[in-house]
Amino acid sequence: MCGIVGYLGSQEVVPLLLDGLRRLEYRGYDSAGIAVLENGNLETVRAEGKLDQLVEKLAGQTIPASYGLGHTRWATHGEPSERNAHPMVDSQGRVAVIHNGIIENFLELKQRLLDAGWTFDSDTDTEVAANLISHYLDGDLKTAVTRAASELQGMYALAVVSTVGDREIVVTRQGPPLVIGVGQDEQFLASDPAALLAHTKDVIFLENRDVGRLTPERIEIWDADGEPVERPVVRLNWDPIQAEKGGYKHFMLKEIQEQPLAVQETFAGRVDFGHGRITLEELNLTEEEARGIAKIDILACGTSWHAGLVGKFLIQRLADVPVEVDYGSEFRYRDPIVGPNDVAVGISQSGETADTLSALEAAAERGARLLSICNVPGSQIVRLTDGVIYTHAGPEIGVASTKAFTSQLVALYLLALHLRQLRGLEIEPEMLQDLAHLPAAVDEVLELEPEIEQLARVYSRASDFLFLGRGINYPIALEGALKLKEISYIHAEGYPAGEMKHGPIALIDEDLPIVAIATGERVFEKVRSNMQEAKARDGIVIALTDRDPKEFDGIAEEVIRVPRVSEELQPIVNVVPLQLLAYHVGVKRGCDVDQPRNLAKSVTVE
Ligand code: AGP
Repeated sequence: MCGIVGYLGSQEVVPLLLDGLRRLEYRGYDSAGIAVLENGNLETVRAEGKLDQLVEKLAGQTIPASYGLGHTRWATHGEPSERNAHPMVDSQGRVAVIHNGIIENFLELKQRLLDAGWTFDSDTDTEVAANLISHYLDGDLKTAVTRAASELQGMYALAVVSTVGDREIVVTRQGPPLVIGVGQDEQFLASDPAALLAHTKDVIFLENRDVGRLTPERIEIWDADGEPVERPVVRLNWDPIQAEKGGYKHFMLKEIQEQPLAVQETFAGRVDFGHGRITLEELNLTEEEARGIAKIDILACGTSWHAGLVGKFLIQRLADVPVEVDYGSEFRYRDPIVGPNDVAVGISQSGETADTLSALEAAAERGARLLSICNVPGSQIVRLTDGVIYTHAGPEIGVASTKAFTSQLVALYLLALHLRQLRGLEIEPEMLQDLAHLPAAVDEVLELEPEIEQLARVYSRASDFLFLGRGINYPIALEGALKLKEISYIHAEGYPAGEMKHGPIALIDEDLPIVAIATGERVFEKVRSNMQEAKARDGIVIALTDRDPKEFDGIAEEVIRVPRVSEELQPIVNVVPLQLLAYHVGVKRGCDVDQPRNLAKSVTVE
């Protein structure tokens, strides 16, 4: 989830680009850069690290230019470095490109361009787009961009300038957003309205596969069929803070809604659906090492620990590798039995959680190989471990982890399939088809929001909540309880549904809402009978299910109906209504849902 800005007009462009990048700073990045032009001269300045590094590099320089592009990178292909920072320039120095998203067929295109004599300096998919556009550039930039984009597979928001032709910026998108800010004889561009509001409230949202050409005087747009089209100019009445939230009231809701994209970006570029293969280039795990794994120890905290519990099911079921899961803060105190044939996998959104880092160090002391699943490039856990699977969720600002969690579950699914493949087991086609369908299923379950908001209205005054699940959905019961308690301060507990009769059932009375996860086939009947036990004690049963609500007649007061996906991926769908429930209950109770009391986004102390 990179940040894109652009400007075209009569003002000095460099300060405007830096101001726009500063407003996208919350999106996080590991490198940043600008490309500016005047009279056909293209100048590019890039820097690794935070925006301040780029600002420092530009300090004291006066670059006379009145149009250009700026970019903050959230690494997907190629490690964070100046070499891999955007803007990317083609090898003939005619075209500068900035890009948000993932081009899945970049390797194939890169080989074709190499065969045609193009050269590359970076490991990025974006440089392939720059060379491809230049390859087709024959005087008209819009035509070249249109032609190149028609060959790109995957997700992209592209902004392009060139030393050839007019003073213009050409843009196109497929997936990630691009917004044009309409000025007076000047135009603005951004991946997010937040970067525009200081200059204009009149914006045009590009549709998927639109191509736009911005000149100081006019904005022209062509649709996916190449036909000229008028997109409406929308007046944003957001204040700048609201803009950073993309118009949502809270970052948490924005990030819940971003999950279809976060899930898709996490598997994009890593799955060859045609040949049934998984590629995890930064994992640095050979076939021999994978075959030699005796046990995997998953180490994590909080929501990431819940992801680890789901990961245990996935890896044991799909790769036939024994898995243990520990809280980072507990691992070293249980005298863990770990050896050189074991792999420790640290799961951490921030990559800075002290308990998780300490647990990994304890595992390394006992000879384990260290891997990580992380959302922040260059964070401590990435530097500590021998290999990583990045979740491409983009920066998660809300303290409550939502899109990072579902992205962690996708990463664990990819890890399980990758281990399966390395250990010589066949990846079944439906295992990948289910994954391909997942973003649409998450999109569908988000449509439940109005219904969940109504539920929150009814139950926001409860003093306790219980969440029940069995098997692979027991961790989701735990996650639903954690979300609710950390956002609304309601005491909430998650339990294995089968555990109720061993004590917790004593808690049930007519004031206790009980959310029971009853999806799939394997444990459905048992969960339903647990729900009947709760109902028999006057509990308020709320069923979360992929089945006909009639199956809960006389049992559930409420039924949350979710789409059915494979059992292995169902937790990703099931958690979304629970995130929404926690959010709306928190809002109803007047809590600060983005920054709940006593909590920090990253717990860097033990
Ligand atoms: C989850 O909503 C909480 N913010 C918290 O439990 C979090 O998951 C935990 O602190 C671990 O953080 P990490 O993923 O950054 O390591």
